[in-house]
Amino acid sequence: MLRQSFLTMSNSRELQNVALHNGTARKFALRFVAGETLQQAVRAIVELNRNGITATFDHLGENITTAAAATAAAAAYMDVLETIARTGIKSNISLKLTQMGLDVDEELSLKNMLTICSRARELDIFVRLDMESSAYTERTLAMFRKLWHESGYRNVGVVLQAYLYRTEEDVREMNSLGARVRLCKGAYNEPADVAFPKKADVDANYAKLMRLLLKEGTYPGIATHDERLIEYTKRFAARQGIGADKFEFQMLYGVRRELQVELVRQGYNMRVYVPYGQEWYAYFMRRLAERPANVVFVLGNLLKR
Ligand code: FDA
Repeated sequence: MLRQSFLTMSNSRELQNVALHNGTARKFALRFVAGETLQQAVRAIVELNRNGITATFDHLGENITTAAAATAAAAAYMDVLETIARTGIKSNISLKLTQMGLDVDEELSLKNMLTICSRARELDIFVRLDMESSAYTERTLAMFRKLWHESGYRNVGVVLQAYLYRTEEDVREMNSLGARVRLCKGAYNEPADVAFPKKADVDANYAKLMRLLLKEGTYPGIATHDERLIEYTKRFAARQGIGADKFEFQMLYGVRRELQVELVRQGYNMRVYVPYGQEWYAYFMRRLAERPANVVFVLGNLLKR
């Protein structure tokens, strides 16, 4: 119930306007967001790198409604690429197609993606297409196929969500291409005809897809904070003789920090997703939806004021 309410609120423009101008909300969002500027995100990544953790930049923003905003978002990512190259920090980039203008003009979003993938390839930087709600799954994969097949980019990969029934088929397609997949559970409100309604079924499907990716995939990203699934991944890899250099664990900025460092200490590759920017509202609401304790913490602090 709580999860659904927060996910519904994440789509509200009115609430977004209130939250973005509320100092307390901003303060709590900054637990999950590296800052509002690129410089702050770079500082966070330097610190992660110091602990042996690589990163992926997320310039926050999604579901934009004008061509100008899409062009500005693409320009922000071009800045990020140059910054990675100039500073030498260990990071790639993650972006959302609705931020590149998918809903405004598909041709424009393709043009933005070609510009970004081309410069990223010159700089040897990997580009991850985040996965949004199921309304965008097919369109995101269609964009990926264009970039991969028609334009020949190999520095691009996708995110697949274990809560969707269709995902096993998508994993098999990506494995057969040799494309890199980030596997996550899925963060949006989805109806029962497209996604497993029960968490136990999502977790079981995650375990199954992880096995497929480790055995047949290309350097998959196992993106979860779920300790049971992380332990299971480690045991499965060891049993199959799959080296720790063949995959990476991924987590979100500000979540399970000690576990991130511990996994590096144990010899695993660890990448952290580092969001930054002013459009933190929807991202923050999804983080609250994932964990009731976060909501209790935020509400408790709001009430103390
Ligand atoms: P689960 O929700 O079962 O949580 C397991 C445990 O992890 C919890 O008990 C708690 O201890 C901890 N935890 C989880 N979330 C927390 C939080 N917000 N705050 C504090 N503790 C928390 N989704 C998507 O739909 N599209 C995408 O492109 C991405 N991209 C992405 C990148 C990366 C690197 C990660 C780690 C995750 C995503 N996600 C995503 C989000 C993902 O789908 C999922 O919603 C969250 O990772 C939470 O699920 P867990 O696998 O962590 O398990």
